[in-house]
Amino acid sequence: MAINNHSPAGSQPLPGHGETGNVTGDGVLRLGEMIDCPPEDSLHETAHLLVNIIESSPDATLVIDKKGKVLFWNRAMAELTGYPAAEMVGQGHYEHGRAFYKGVRRPMLVDMIVDPDLDISHMFASFYREGDVLVTDLNFADLKGEDKVMWGRAAPLYNSQGKIVGAIETVRDITERQQAADALKKSHEQLQLLFDSTVHALAITTEKRDQYTAGHQLRVADLACAIGEEMGLAEDVIRNLRIAGSLHDIGKLFVPLDILSQPSKLNNIERLFVMTHSEAGYDILKDIPFEGPIPLIIMQHHERMDGSGYPLGLKGSEILLEARILAVADTFEAMASHRPYRPSLGIEKAIAEITDHAGTIYDAEVVNACLKVVRGDQFHFE
Ligand SMILES: [Fe+2]
Repeated sequence: MAINNHSPAGSQPLPGHGETGNVTGDGVLRLGEMIDCPPEDSLHETAHLLVNIIESSPDATLVIDKKGKVLFWNRAMAELTGYPAAEMVGQGHYEHGRAFYKGVRRPMLVDMIVDPDLDISHMFASFYREGDVLVTDLNFADLKGEDKVMWGRAAPLYNSQGKIVGAIETVRDITERQQAADALKKSHEQLQLLFDSTVHALAITTEKRDQYTAGHQLRVADLACAIGEEMGLAEDVIRNLRIAGSLHDIGKLFVPLDILSQPSKLNNIERLFVMTHSEAGYDILKDIPFEGPIPLIIMQHHERMDGSGYPLGLKGSEILLEARILAVADTFEAMASHRPYRPSLGIEKAIAEITDHAGTIYDAEVVNACLKVVRGDQFHFE
Protein backbone atom coordinates (compact mmCIF):
# COMPACT_ATOMS: atom_id res chain seq x y z
CA MET A 1 0.00 0.00 0.00
CA ALA A 2 1.61 3.22 -1.12
CA ILE A 3 0.93 6.11 1.19
CA ASN A 4 3.40 8.55 -0.27
CA ASN A 5 1.09 11.40 -1.11
CA HIS A 6 2.45 13.51 -3.96
CA SER A 7 0.56 16.16 -5.80
CA PRO A 8 0.30 15.38 -9.51
CA ALA A 9 3.34 16.86 -11.24
CA GLY A 10 2.78 20.46 -12.24
CA SER A 11 -0.63 20.67 -10.58
CA GLN A 12 -1.72 22.63 -7.53
CA PRO A 13 -0.83 21.07 -4.20
CA LEU A 14 -3.49 18.65 -2.97
CA PRO A 15 -5.79 20.26 -0.42
CA GLY A 16 -4.23 20.31 3.01
CA HIS A 17 -1.06 18.61 1.83
CA GLY A 18 1.29 20.45 -0.48
CA GLU A 19 1.84 23.50 1.65
CA THR A 20 2.86 21.57 4.73
CA GLY A 21 5.98 20.21 3.04
CA ASN A 22 5.27 16.81 4.58
CA VAL A 23 3.94 15.00 1.57
CA THR A 24 6.76 15.14 -0.91
CA GLY A 25 9.55 12.85 -2.02
CA ASP A 26 11.67 14.81 0.42
CA GLY A 27 9.57 13.37 3.19
CA VAL A 28 10.73 9.86 2.29
CA LEU A 29 14.35 11.07 2.23
CA ARG A 30 13.94 12.78 5.57
CA LEU A 31 12.54 9.60 7.05
CA GLY A 32 15.52 7.74 5.54
CA GLU A 33 17.88 10.16 7.24
CA MET A 34 16.01 9.81 10.50
CA ILE A 35 16.66 6.10 10.62
CA ASP A 36 20.17 6.57 9.25
CA CYS A 37 19.44 4.41 6.23
CA PRO A 38 21.51 4.25 3.01
CA PRO A 39 19.61 5.63 -0.01
CA GLU A 40 19.30 2.21 -1.72
CA ASP A 41 17.37 0.82 1.27
CA SER A 42 15.56 4.02 1.95
CA LEU A 43 12.20 3.08 0.37
CA HIS A 44 11.89 -0.21 2.14
CA GLU A 45 12.94 1.20 5.47
CA THR A 46 10.78 4.28 5.28
CA ALA A 47 7.76 2.19 4.36
CA HIS A 48 8.50 0.13 7.45
CA LEU A 49 8.73 3.31 9.50
CA LEU A 50 5.45 4.66 8.11
CA VAL A 51 3.69 1.47 9.16
CA ASN A 52 5.19 2.00 12.60
CA ILE A 53 3.96 5.56 12.70
CA ILE A 54 0.41 4.44 12.01
CA GLU A 55 0.70 1.56 14.44
CA SER A 56 2.07 3.73 17.26
CA SER A 57 -0.22 6.70 16.74
CA PRO A 58 -1.99 7.47 20.01
CA ASP A 59 -5.18 8.09 18.00
CA ALA A 60 -7.31 5.14 16.96
CA THR A 61 -6.65 4.86 13.23
CA LEU A 62 -7.72 2.67 10.35
CA VAL A 63 -6.59 2.65 6.75
CA ILE A 64 -8.54 1.12 3.88
CA ASP A 65 -7.59 0.61 0.24
CA LYS A 66 -9.66 1.95 -2.62
CA LYS A 67 -11.87 -1.16 -2.55
CA GLY A 68 -12.66 -0.60 1.10
CA LYS A 69 -10.48 -3.41 2.46
CA VAL A 70 -8.84 -2.75 5.83
CA LEU A 71 -5.06 -2.41 5.53
CA PHE A 72 -4.26 -1.06 8.98
CA TRP A 73 -6.11 -1.22 12.28
CA ASN A 74 -3.69 0.23 14.75
CA ARG A 75 -3.08 -0.58 18.40
CA ALA A 76 -5.09 2.37 19.70
CA MET A 77 -8.01 1.31 17.49
CA ALA A 78 -7.88 -2.22 18.88
CA GLU A 79 -7.85 -0.86 22.43
CA LEU A 80 -10.70 1.55 21.76
CA THR A 81 -13.01 -0.91 20.05
CA GLY A 82 -11.98 -4.22 21.60
CA TYR A 83 -11.61 -5.64 18.08
CA PRO A 84 -8.03 -6.87 17.46
CA ALA A 85 -6.23 -6.05 14.22
CA ALA A 86 -6.21 -9.75 13.31
CA GLU A 87 -10.00 -9.69 13.11
CA MET A 88 -10.20 -6.58 10.95
CA VAL A 89 -7.18 -6.41 8.65
CA GLY A 90 -8.04 -7.82 5.22
CA GLN A 91 -11.80 -7.46 5.76
CA GLY A 92 -13.97 -5.50 3.33
CA HIS A 93 -17.70 -4.90 2.87
CA TYR A 94 -17.83 -2.42 5.74
CA GLU A 95 -16.85 -5.07 8.30
CA HIS A 96 -14.92 -2.36 10.18
CA GLY A 97 -18.22 -0.65 10.99
CA ARG A 98 -19.10 -3.58 13.26
CA ALA A 99 -16.68 -2.22 15.84
CA PHE A 100 -18.79 0.91 16.24
CA TYR A 101 -22.35 -0.12 15.54
CA LYS A 102 -23.26 -3.06 17.77
CA GLY A 103 -21.63 -5.66 15.60
CA VAL A 104 -23.57 -4.56 12.52
CA ARG A 105 -21.67 -3.94 9.26
CA ARG A 106 -21.95 -0.32 8.28
CA PRO A 107 -19.93 2.14 6.22
CA MET A 108 -17.89 4.81 7.97
CA LEU A 109 -16.55 8.22 6.93
CA VAL A 110 -13.52 6.57 5.38
CA ASP A 111 -15.72 4.58 2.97
CA MET A 112 -17.22 7.76 1.54
CA ILE A 113 -13.77 8.80 0.44
CA VAL A 114 -12.99 5.72 -1.63
CA ASP A 115 -16.55 5.45 -2.99
CA PRO A 116 -17.76 8.82 -4.36
CA ASP A 117 -21.25 7.35 -4.94
CA LEU A 118 -21.66 6.55 -1.27
CA ASP A 119 -23.32 9.27 0.80
CA ILE A 120 -23.96 8.45 4.44
CA SER A 121 -23.56 12.01 5.71
CA HIS A 122 -27.14 11.96 7.06
CA MET A 123 -26.12 9.20 9.49
CA PHE A 124 -23.95 11.60 11.49
CA ALA A 125 -25.40 14.11 13.95
CA SER A 126 -22.76 16.48 12.65
CA PHE A 127 -20.93 16.21 9.36
CA TYR A 128 -18.82 18.60 7.33
CA ARG A 129 -16.01 18.74 4.80
CA GLU A 130 -12.72 20.55 5.08
CA GLY A 131 -11.40 20.39 1.52
CA ASP A 132 -11.01 16.68 0.78
CA VAL A 133 -11.23 15.74 4.46
CA LEU A 134 -14.51 14.51 5.98
CA VAL A 135 -15.26 15.30 9.60
CA THR A 136 -17.89 14.40 12.16
CA ASP A 137 -17.70 15.87 15.62
CA LEU A 138 -20.92 14.33 16.82
CA ASN A 139 -21.46 10.71 15.92
CA PHE A 140 -23.42 8.40 18.16
CA ALA A 141 -21.86 4.98 18.27
CA ASP A 142 -21.43 1.94 20.46
CA LEU A 143 -18.12 0.82 21.87
CA LYS A 144 -17.87 -2.44 23.76
CA GLY A 145 -21.61 -2.33 24.46
CA GLU A 146 -21.65 1.27 25.68
CA ASP A 147 -23.25 4.30 24.02
CA LYS A 148 -20.55 6.74 23.01
CA VAL A 149 -20.15 10.05 21.27
CA MET A 150 -17.41 9.89 18.67
CA TRP A 151 -15.33 12.35 16.73
CA GLY A 152 -13.98 11.16 13.37
CA ARG A 153 -11.87 12.55 10.59
CA ALA A 154 -11.17 10.78 7.31
CA ALA A 155 -8.76 11.82 4.57
CA PRO A 156 -7.83 10.43 1.18
CA LEU A 157 -4.43 8.88 0.52
CA TYR A 158 -2.97 9.79 -2.85
CA ASN A 159 -0.32 8.02 -4.89
CA SER A 160 2.47 9.89 -6.65
CA GLN A 161 0.13 10.57 -9.61
CA GLY A 162 -2.40 12.22 -7.33
CA LYS A 163 -4.88 9.34 -7.59
CA ILE A 164 -6.76 8.22 -4.49
CA VAL A 165 -5.46 4.81 -3.51
CA GLY A 166 -7.12 4.54 -0.16
CA ALA A 167 -8.22 6.50 2.87
CA ILE A 168 -7.30 6.93 6.49
CA GLU A 169 -9.65 7.63 9.40
CA THR A 170 -8.93 8.61 12.96
CA VAL A 171 -11.62 8.37 15.61
CA ARG A 172 -11.85 9.59 19.19
CA ASP A 173 -14.21 8.85 22.02
CA ILE A 174 -15.41 12.32 23.04
CA THR A 175 -18.22 11.14 25.33
CA GLU A 176 -16.73 12.69 28.47
CA ARG A 177 -15.94 15.93 26.68
CA GLN A 178 -19.49 16.02 25.32
CA GLN A 179 -20.98 15.30 28.76
CA ALA A 180 -18.85 18.08 30.27
CA ALA A 181 -19.96 20.45 27.49
CA ASP A 182 -23.63 19.46 28.05
CA ALA A 183 -23.28 19.99 31.81
CA LEU A 184 -21.65 23.36 31.23
CA LYS A 185 -24.44 24.35 28.85
CA LYS A 186 -27.07 23.26 31.37
CA SER A 187 -25.40 25.18 34.17
CA HIS A 188 -25.13 28.23 31.92
CA GLU A 189 -28.84 27.96 31.13
CA GLN A 190 -29.67 27.66 34.84
CA LEU A 191 -27.53 30.67 35.61
CA GLN A 192 -29.25 32.58 32.83
CA LEU A 193 -32.66 31.62 34.23
CA LEU A 194 -31.55 32.72 37.70
CA PHE A 195 -30.30 36.00 36.27
CA ASP A 196 -33.48 36.63 34.25
CA SER A 197 -35.74 35.88 37.20
CA THR A 198 -33.64 38.13 39.47
CA VAL A 199 -33.97 40.98 36.98
CA HIS A 200 -37.70 40.30 36.78
CA ALA A 201 -38.02 40.20 40.59
CA LEU A 202 -36.19 43.53 40.87
CA ALA A 203 -38.45 45.05 38.23
CA ILE A 204 -41.57 43.83 40.04
CA THR A 205 -40.25 45.16 43.37
CA THR A 206 -40.09 48.70 41.97
CA GLU A 207 -43.51 48.42 40.48
CA LYS A 208 -45.16 46.85 43.51
CA ARG A 209 -44.15 49.93 45.45
CA ASP A 210 -45.18 52.40 42.79
CA GLN A 211 -48.62 51.34 41.59
CA TYR A 212 -48.87 54.31 39.22
CA THR A 213 -46.32 52.85 36.92
CA ALA A 214 -47.13 49.17 37.38
CA GLY A 215 -46.09 47.28 34.26
CA HIS A 216 -44.42 50.38 32.83
CA GLN A 217 -40.84 49.07 32.94
CA LEU A 218 -41.65 45.75 31.27
CA ARG A 219 -43.65 47.46 28.53
CA VAL A 220 -40.80 49.93 27.99
CA ALA A 221 -38.42 46.97 27.74
CA ASP A 222 -40.68 45.36 25.11
CA LEU A 223 -40.90 48.54 23.04
CA ALA A 224 -37.17 49.30 23.37
CA CYS A 225 -36.32 45.78 22.14
CA ALA A 226 -38.73 46.11 19.21
CA ILE A 227 -37.09 49.44 18.27
CA GLY A 228 -33.64 47.85 18.58
CA GLU A 229 -34.71 44.99 16.30
CA GLU A 230 -36.20 47.45 13.80
CA MET A 231 -32.81 49.22 13.77
CA GLY A 232 -31.08 45.90 13.09
CA LEU A 233 -29.01 46.03 16.28
CA ALA A 234 -26.96 43.07 17.46
CA GLU A 235 -28.44 40.46 19.79
CA ASP A 236 -26.33 41.54 22.77
CA VAL A 237 -27.52 45.16 22.41
CA ILE A 238 -31.13 43.97 22.33
CA ARG A 239 -30.43 41.96 25.44
CA ASN A 240 -29.04 45.08 27.14
CA LEU A 241 -32.22 46.91 26.18
CA ARG A 242 -34.35 44.17 27.72
CA ILE A 243 -32.47 44.30 31.04
CA ALA A 244 -32.05 48.07 31.22
CA GLY A 245 -35.66 48.63 30.16
CA SER A 246 -36.94 46.26 32.85
CA LEU A 247 -34.97 48.07 35.56
CA HIS A 248 -34.74 51.65 34.32
CA ASP A 249 -36.82 53.14 37.13
CA ILE A 250 -35.36 51.01 39.93
CA GLY A 251 -33.87 54.19 41.45
CA LYS A 252 -37.41 55.26 42.32
CA LEU A 253 -37.04 52.99 45.33
CA PHE A 254 -35.17 55.94 46.85
CA VAL A 255 -37.89 58.46 46.07
CA PRO A 256 -40.42 58.97 48.88
CA LEU A 257 -43.63 57.09 48.18
CA ASP A 258 -45.91 60.08 48.77
CA ILE A 259 -44.11 61.93 45.97
CA LEU A 260 -44.31 58.97 43.61
CA SER A 261 -47.98 58.33 44.29
CA GLN A 262 -49.03 61.95 44.14
CA PRO A 263 -51.51 62.30 41.29
CA SER A 264 -51.28 66.11 41.08
CA LYS A 265 -48.48 68.13 39.49
CA LEU A 266 -45.17 67.98 41.38
CA ASN A 267 -43.58 71.11 42.79
CA ASN A 268 -39.92 71.90 42.10
CA ILE A 269 -38.52 70.13 45.16
CA GLU A 270 -40.59 67.07 44.47
CA ARG A 271 -39.50 67.07 40.85
CA LEU A 272 -35.84 67.26 41.91
CA PHE A 273 -36.43 64.26 44.16
CA VAL A 274 -37.88 62.27 41.28
CA MET A 275 -34.95 63.32 39.09
CA THR A 276 -32.51 61.58 41.44
CA HIS A 277 -33.88 58.19 40.35
CA SER A 278 -31.68 57.71 37.29
CA GLU A 279 -28.47 58.20 39.27
CA ALA A 280 -29.86 56.17 42.17
CA GLY A 281 -30.55 53.36 39.69
CA TYR A 282 -26.91 53.48 38.62
CA ASP A 283 -25.79 53.29 42.26
CA ILE A 284 -28.00 50.29 43.00
CA LEU A 285 -26.76 48.31 39.99
CA LYS A 286 -23.18 49.48 39.46
CA ASP A 287 -21.51 46.58 41.28
CA ILE A 288 -23.43 43.84 39.45
CA PRO A 289 -21.18 42.28 36.76
CA PHE A 290 -23.62 42.68 33.86
CA GLU A 291 -22.31 41.77 30.43
CA GLY A 292 -23.36 45.17 29.06
CA PRO A 293 -23.27 48.76 30.41
CA ILE A 294 -26.68 48.39 32.12
CA PRO A 295 -26.04 50.81 35.04
CA LEU A 296 -24.83 53.52 32.63
CA ILE A 297 -27.78 53.05 30.27
CA ILE A 298 -30.10 53.50 33.24
CA MET A 299 -28.24 56.56 34.47
CA GLN A 300 -28.61 58.13 31.01
CA HIS A 301 -32.24 57.32 30.21
CA HIS A 302 -33.35 60.90 30.92
CA GLU A 303 -30.51 62.54 29.02
CA ARG A 304 -31.70 64.42 25.92
CA MET A 305 -30.04 64.94 22.53
CA ASP A 306 -29.81 68.74 22.97
CA GLY A 307 -28.24 68.48 26.43
CA SER A 308 -31.42 69.47 28.26
CA GLY A 309 -31.70 66.18 30.13
CA TYR A 310 -30.34 64.93 33.43
CA PRO A 311 -28.30 64.05 35.46
CA LEU A 312 -25.27 65.17 33.41
CA GLY A 313 -26.76 67.12 30.52
CA LEU A 314 -25.02 64.87 27.98
CA LYS A 315 -25.55 65.61 24.28
CA GLY A 316 -26.04 63.53 21.12
CA SER A 317 -23.58 60.70 20.76
CA GLU A 318 -22.28 61.28 24.31
CA ILE A 319 -25.43 59.40 25.29
CA LEU A 320 -25.30 55.63 24.85
CA LEU A 321 -27.46 54.41 21.96
CA GLU A 322 -29.34 52.09 24.32
CA ALA A 323 -30.16 55.08 26.56
CA ARG A 324 -31.37 57.08 23.53
CA ILE A 325 -33.66 54.16 22.62
CA LEU A 326 -34.89 53.83 26.19
CA ALA A 327 -35.69 57.58 26.30
CA VAL A 328 -38.02 57.25 23.29
CA ALA A 329 -39.61 54.02 24.50
CA ASP A 330 -40.07 55.47 28.01
CA THR A 331 -41.78 58.64 26.78
CA PHE A 332 -43.92 56.80 24.26
CA GLU A 333 -45.10 54.19 26.75
CA ALA A 334 -45.81 56.77 29.46
CA MET A 335 -48.04 58.75 27.10
CA ALA A 336 -49.72 55.85 25.35
CA SER A 337 -50.66 53.93 28.50
CA HIS A 338 -53.40 54.50 30.99
CA ARG A 339 -52.47 55.71 34.44
CA PRO A 340 -54.73 55.29 37.47
CA TYR A 341 -54.97 59.10 37.69
CA ARG A 342 -55.51 59.73 33.96
CA PRO A 343 -56.57 57.89 30.84
CA SER A 344 -54.09 57.24 28.06
CA LEU A 345 -53.14 60.40 26.20
CA GLY A 346 -53.45 58.29 23.08
CA ILE A 347 -51.08 56.77 20.59
CA GLU A 348 -51.42 59.77 18.26
CA LYS A 349 -50.32 62.23 20.97
CA ALA A 350 -47.41 60.00 21.84
CA ILE A 351 -46.46 59.83 18.15
CA ALA A 352 -46.73 63.64 17.88
CA GLU A 353 -44.50 64.13 20.96
CA ILE A 354 -41.62 62.01 19.67
CA THR A 355 -42.01 63.21 16.05
CA ASP A 356 -42.05 66.89 17.01
CA HIS A 357 -38.86 66.50 19.00
CA ALA A 358 -37.00 64.11 16.72
CA GLY A 359 -33.43 65.33 16.29
CA THR A 360 -33.69 67.86 19.14
CA ILE A 361 -34.73 65.96 22.25
CA TYR A 362 -34.89 62.45 20.84
CA ASP A 363 -32.55 60.63 18.46
CA ALA A 364 -34.16 60.98 15.01
CA GLU A 365 -33.14 57.51 13.86
CA VAL A 366 -34.61 55.97 17.02
CA VAL A 367 -37.84 57.95 16.55
CA ASN A 368 -38.10 56.67 12.99
CA ALA A 369 -37.69 53.09 14.11
CA CYS A 370 -40.21 53.61 16.93
CA LEU A 371 -42.78 55.00 14.47
CA LYS A 372 -42.33 51.97 12.21
CA VAL A 373 -42.79 49.68 15.20
CA VAL A 374 -45.90 51.29 16.66
CA ARG A 375 -47.56 51.85 13.29
CA GLY A 376 -46.91 48.30 12.18
CA ASP A 377 -49.12 45.45 13.25
CA GLN A 378 -46.33 43.39 14.80
CA PHE A 379 -46.08 45.26 18.08
CA HIS A 380 -48.68 45.61 20.83
CA PHE A 381 -48.15 46.47 24.46
CA GLU A 382 -48.91 43.43 26.62
FE1 LIG B 1 -37.23 57.18 34.46
